[in-house]
Amino acid sequence: MGGDSILIRNARLVLPEGILEDVDILVEDGKVTRIGRELEPPRGVDVLNVEGKLVLPGVVDEHVHMREPGLEYKDNFTNGTMDAASGGVTTVLEMPNTLPPVENRKVLLEKAHLLASKAYVDFALYGVIHDGNIDEFEEMVYAGAIGFKIFLGPTTGNIPAPSDATIYEALLKSAKLKTPIAFHAENWSLVKYFTEKVKATGRMDPKAHMDARPPICEEEATIRIAYYAKKTRGIALIVHMSALEAVEALRKARSEGVNIWGETNPHYLLLSSDDYDKYGTLMKVNPPIRSREHQEALWKAVLDGTITNIGSDHAPHAREEKEKNVWEAAAGFPGVRTLLPLMIDQALRGKIPLTKIPELLSANPAKLFNLYPKKGTITIGSDGDMVVVDPRSETIIREEDFHSKHPLSPFIGWRLKGRIEYTILRGAIIARNGEVTGGPRGQWIRYTPKTS
Ligand code: NCD
Ligand code: ZN
Repeated sequence: MGGDSILIRNARLVLPEGILEDVDILVEDGKVTRIGRELEPPRGVDVLNVEGKLVLPGVVDEHVHMREPGLEYKDNFTNGTMDAASGGVTTVLEMPNTLPPVENRKVLLEKAHLLASKAYVDFALYGVIHDGNIDEFEEMVYAGAIGFKIFLGPTTGNIPAPSDATIYEALLKSAKLKTPIAFHAENWSLVKYFTEKVKATGRMDPKAHMDARPPICEEEATIRIAYYAKKTRGIALIVHMSALEAVEALRKARSEGVNIWGETNPHYLLLSSDDYDKYGTLMKVNPPIRSREHQEALWKAVLDGTITNIGSDHAPHAREEKEKNVWEAAAGFPGVRTLLPLMIDQALRGKIPLTKIPELLSANPAKLFNLYPKKGTITIGSDGDMVVVDPRSETIIREEDFHSKHPLSPFIGWRLKGRIEYTILRGAIIARNGEVTGGPRGQWIRYTPKTS
């Protein structure tokens, strides 16, 4: 399938390798065909002059829960991918805890078919692995699963944690087919133990959720996954890292050459336990947002390359589910719309180098999920997926900017440096100043299996 053509003029092109000043980028039929100076547009090709603006690769958000099918009362794929387009995300990797769970080839194909007509950005699908479906692993990969999710701790969907044998076998298969496995790394039995203990004290304050899932839950699970990844040579991604002890375990495993990657999310970098009084259960998420000490360790890990990826963990819920007491409130909130604006703001304030943004949000997720260099970068032959950012302008996150059914984000009202002006998918402008332009032109991206 083709795509659109556009000539971007005078870009400040931000890539992990460095910043290229004053370059032109030509996209023809959806693919980048030339990068250079003073390029002439081929006949009929529109020109977009972006002088003074930053151009980054479109974001590959490896961690979204868009709730369709089965949980549309929380949100749907149309809204989720419109928020993606508005927020500079051109590819989303959709999690499998929908209804029915994506646990076999048939459900995967039905989900892909359903979502294909609704996608405003390109998308790929995860399958889930639990004790009952390890034999479906290969079939799901051949049907196009981009990777798998294994939930070790209790969370939305309550998919029970698999046995160590299932984890081991899944990672063996991962090594063979080069299919990454994303782990929700919290030890189920420890979470239950601490939750019961904290509940028994009668606590009802929002911070009780944090104390019910202490760092040891995440540390143990990370060490266990790293161990099996080492033994099997499987590819593991620890998603939504929040605890410094888990980050230490990740750092150690990576230094030993284990094929293990680490993701964190903006809320762990920008919020801390000091904020529970202000936001209450709005900021309830699994794993919990912790103290500043953990936040600082995460920033350090982002800077030194231990944390390799940043995704959103976009996880919308209905208002009635969020506005409950600390124990009953749902965990998670929408994030795909705010991921890039929040991280650009941090870079423009000098917290991290600008080049870290395309590394953590685009290139590394694309590399891990075998999508690179089609996705995740801007080079000859890549898809023409780009974001144009005005670094001198600013963004105020407003409730009305969300397409989400329940825009319950803790970041509403935040004032940020920088402003996304355009999101471009395969050469077509899909959002301008936060407004989605055009229809759902996203495509399903299947993983093509490689055997070692
Ligand atoms: C996620 C959800 O609601 O789907 N919630 C969350 O708190 N992170 C599930 C998950 O990834 O744990
Ligand atoms: Zn999770």
